[in-house]
Amino acid sequence: MTGVRWEGAQTTGWDADHDGVEDARPTTALPASSFTLRPPVDQDLILVGATGDLARRKLIPAIYDLFLDGLMPNNGRIIGYAREETDDETFRLRATNSIRSGSRRMLFEEAWKELGPRFVYVARNRGGIGLAAKYATQPQRLIYLAIPPAAVPAVLDEIRENDLIEGSRIVLEKPFGFDLASAQALDDQLRQHFSEDQIFRIDHYLGKETVQNIAVFRFGNALWERVWSRDAIDHIQITVAESIGAGGRAAFYDDVGALRDIVQNHALQLLALLAMEPPARFTAAALRDESSRVLHALRPIRPEDAVFGQYTAGNIDGTRARGYLEETGVPETSRTETYVAIRAEIDNWRWAGVPFFIRTGKRLPSRVTEVLVSFREPPVALWESAGLEAQERRSNHLVIRIQPDEGISLMFNAKVPGPEIATRPVQMRFRYGESFMTEPAEAYERLLYDAMDGDPMLFLRQDNVLRSWEVLQPLLDDPPPVHPYAAGTWGPPAADELIGDRTWHTH
Ligand code: BG6
Repeated sequence: MTGVRWEGAQTTGWDADHDGVEDARPTTALPASSFTLRPPVDQDLILVGATGDLARRKLIPAIYDLFLDGLMPNNGRIIGYAREETDDETFRLRATNSIRSGSRRMLFEEAWKELGPRFVYVARNRGGIGLAAKYATQPQRLIYLAIPPAAVPAVLDEIRENDLIEGSRIVLEKPFGFDLASAQALDDQLRQHFSEDQIFRIDHYLGKETVQNIAVFRFGNALWERVWSRDAIDHIQITVAESIGAGGRAAFYDDVGALRDIVQNHALQLLALLAMEPPARFTAAALRDESSRVLHALRPIRPEDAVFGQYTAGNIDGTRARGYLEETGVPETSRTETYVAIRAEIDNWRWAGVPFFIRTGKRLPSRVTEVLVSFREPPVALWESAGLEAQERRSNHLVIRIQPDEGISLMFNAKVPGPEIATRPVQMRFRYGESFMTEPAEAYERLLYDAMDGDPMLFLRQDNVLRSWEVLQPLLDDPPPVHPYAAGTWGPPAADELIGDRTWHTH
């Protein structure tokens, strides 16, 4: 059966003049559904932290987009739960604003007429999560904890005290804990009450189409496996660069920093997908086993193999950007790292001796997440590639662009036309937009759907999370010095020393 798409979204034209809904008209019909998913079983969704940044920017738009695709439960409410004193009407009005700014589609009035009344709100000190659960209409529920890690233990206690464990699935957001010991404590608390199949630990990178495609690219083509090892690969780079600063999240970010915010989760998950062995089957258990196995082979990172940085004032795209210490909510003496570069090594037969370089930072020149697989040079140089820098001569590399401009490209040498033999790197390229004529869906849509559907494939298993902390714990125990870098540059010069005679891929 094809997913039941919400019929109203196909209509064109209406008059809209009630709360918060623009008088907007779709100019084209939505494309036909190409997937065969069904709505998850009837259930309520309790959104803890419903007035926060994540709910507003990502979760509420994802609920709406799933609804348009016929992929929300047919029955069940969206129960907002947070500290703020507000009411159903305001919650709904704000939801329409979130949808307008965060959804992939416009706000269709007829769709909202159907979905809007399913949104209700309970303020925490009005009666706690027990009251929120009284608004539920179904025996089953998904409790989504869109709250900072420090607030999680108290809410878990509330869930238990109100006898809500049975019939609930819990979604947790990273970072899971603060270091190895706190992650372990959180895990003990969770496992006292919930079984592992009730717990969904989100790393939203795993919900990205381009990240899932790494598995298909590697294991759906016989070609790459032949060269996917130390025999042909010189090194791998993983870049998660952002041009935004800590901005409005600075108070939260200052307690976290780039290592916990990006490396512990998103970057190590990318590394695991790139380096894992082919799973025996495409099942959640098999994939999670392989992912954990490779993280266990990852050598704990020594402080001398890491570079930390913090941005100072600078320019991005001609606009002046303030330094991290000038951001609102950041203490003047903060040593929080906004940039991390790491050299990692995997001690197994496939990867021994192949360095994996990871770098991430805020206020870098552009937003780009990508993987560069750099292949070895030919053993004998038959031709001079005159005038090219060493980096350009290492022509065989594969770039997997996670975002933006999603796609994959392969560079190789070609003969420059002419009477002499001169070579130049050229590019073969796949672009999502061109090949599939569609923009990838938001990661949170996929993950929210899977959590409601009880499919754990794209969620992290507890052993995987703990191992990621273990690998980074030496840097938490003995953090490297924090080097300044100007906003709008690619991080501190020490990161160039870390990569040695190789070069960071330029964009
Ligand atoms: C989040 C981090 O997990 O990922 C943010 O907390 C970061 O600091 C964000 O900006 C990046 O996500 P994306 O999907 O824009 O790459």
